[in-house]
Amino acid sequence: MKTLGVVVLAAGKGTRMKTTTPKALVQTLGRPLIDYVLDAVLQFTESEKISCDIGVVIGHKKELLEEWHNNHGKKNVMKLAWQREQNGTADALKACFNDLPEFKNYEYTLVACADTPMLKSSDFSKLFSVLKEHPKCVGVAATFHEDIPFGYGRIVRSNTGFHIVEEKDATDEQRKITEVNSGVYIVKTSHVLEVIGKITNNNKSGEFYLTDLFQDQFAVAPVLFPSGDNFSGVNTLEQLSGVDELLLKQKIRELQLKGVTLLRPASTYMDFEVEIAEGVTIYPGVTLLGKTKIASGTVVESGGFLKNTVIEENVQVLAHSYLEDAIIQKGAAIGPMARIRPGTTVGMKAKVGNFVEVKKSHLKDGAKVSHLSYVGDAEIGENTNIGCGFITCNYDGVNKHKTIIGKNTFIGSDCQVIAPIEIGDNSFVAAGSTITKSVPSGAFAVARGQQITKEGAASRFLKTKKN
Ligand code: UD1
Ligand code: MG
Repeated sequence: MKTLGVVVLAAGKGTRMKTTTPKALVQTLGRPLIDYVLDAVLQFTESEKISCDIGVVIGHKKELLEEWHNNHGKKNVMKLAWQREQNGTADALKACFNDLPEFKNYEYTLVACADTPMLKSSDFSKLFSVLKEHPKCVGVAATFHEDIPFGYGRIVRSNTGFHIVEEKDATDEQRKITEVNSGVYIVKTSHVLEVIGKITNNNKSGEFYLTDLFQDQFAVAPVLFPSGDNFSGVNTLEQLSGVDELLLKQKIRELQLKGVTLLRPASTYMDFEVEIAEGVTIYPGVTLLGKTKIASGTVVESGGFLKNTVIEENVQVLAHSYLEDAIIQKGAAIGPMARIRPGTTVGMKAKVGNFVEVKKSHLKDGAKVSHLSYVGDAEIGENTNIGCGFITCNYDGVNKHKTIIGKNTFIGSDCQVIAPIEIGDNSFVAAGSTITKSVPSGAFAVARGQQITKEGAASRFLKTKKN
C-alpha cells in the first residue's frame, strides 16, 4: 500500500475575502496562497521520502485554477478534482475520492487548506510522526492556542477523542475555548472512507464539515502546536495583510542573515521570488517585485521601484527610479528619477541620469544619457555620450521605428533624431539638431536654423513692442 494521499482544498468561494479572484489564487508577496501550501507539502514529502499523490480540489471559478495548474512548474505532481457545488470541506474531500479514486488506496490522507500559506514542512512532519507513534490512533488534527479565536473551529477535548465546533455552531461557553483547529489533518484513509459518507450538514451553515471526522468516540487526537504562526488562516483581506507581513519578515530575516543591509527593513517591500545577494544595500522605502534579482555590491536608494529586473554587481540605482523588465549590467548607474521600461539593457558602467526614460533599448557598455531624455527602440554604442534633452522620435503615429547610434559618438544637447535612423561610430551631432537623415561614421552633422545677430538692435526691438 502506498503511504500518503495529500489533498489541498481550494474549491471554496472565499466569500469573506470580497475579492473577485478565488481565494486560493489571491496573492501574498506576489504569489498565490496555494503555492505556499504546495511548497510546504512538497518539501515535507521529499524530506520524509514519502511516495504520494497531491490532489487539489477546485470548484469556484475553476477555470482560473485550471489555468494556474496548466502554467505551474509543478504541474506534473498535482492532480485536479472538481467539487461541483461548494457544500463544505467534507464534500470537497469526497469530490477528491470521486474524481481521483486512487486516493482511496493510500494508507493515510493528509488534508490542508489552500488558505494557510504559513505552513511549513516541519509542521506536517511533526503531525505525521505523532500519528505513526500511536498505531491505534486513526487521525490527528494540528491545533494551537489563539488569543482571539474568532472564526476558527474550537477544539472540544474529551476523555477519549475530541471534536471540533465551528464558530457559528458554538455555544457561548465553547466560543471561549482558545484551542483552535488549524485545518491540517492526517487521518488513516480507512477511517476517512468509513466516516465521510455519514457526515451530515445538520449545522448552522448547512455544510458538510470535514471536522466531523473527529468525534469523541473515535480514536483521534488533537496535536497542540506551541505557536499558531504557521497556521494562520486567510479568510479576510485583513488576515491576508497579516500573513503578508509575517512572510515578509521571514524573508527579510533570511536576507539579513545572508549579509544584505536593509537600512529600514520595515519600509521595504519585496515579493517572495525576489533574490538579493550578500553585500547589497537597500535604502528605506524600496519596492522589489516579481523575479527581480540583485547582485552583490549594488545599492538601491529610497523610492526605488524594481519589477522583474536583473541588476548585476556594483550598480547604483539612485533615488526614485522605476525599473521594469530590464537588465542593468555591472557598474552601471541609474537615476535619480530615471524610468527604465521593459526590454531595456543598460551595459557595463553605462549611465542613465535624472529624468531620463529608456524603453526597449540597448545602451552598450560605457554609454551615457545623463539628463532629461527619451530613448526608445534604440541601440546606443559603447562610450557614446548623449547630451541633455535628447529625443528619439520613434513613433510616427502608426509604427515604431529604430534608432541606431554607433560607438564613441557625441550627440550634443537638445537633439532629436527622427527614426528610422542610423548614426555611425565616432561621429558628432551638434547641439540643437533635428536629424532626419542618417549620419555616417566619423561625420559631423548639424541641423539647426541660421542665427542672425544685429548689433545694438535689442533696445530698438523693445521700443517697437512699447508702441
Ligand atoms: C476551516 C475549518 C475550521 C478551521 C479553519 C482553519 C471546517 C468546517 N472548518 O474553517 O475548523 O479552524 O478552517 O483555517 O473545515 N473549501 C472547499 N470546498 C468547500 C468549502 C471550503 O474546497 O465547499 C476549501 C476552501 O477553499 C479553503 C478550505 O476549504 O481552502 C477551508 O475553507 P474555509 O471556508 O476557509 O473554512 P474556515 O471557515 O476557515
Ligand atoms: Mg479558512
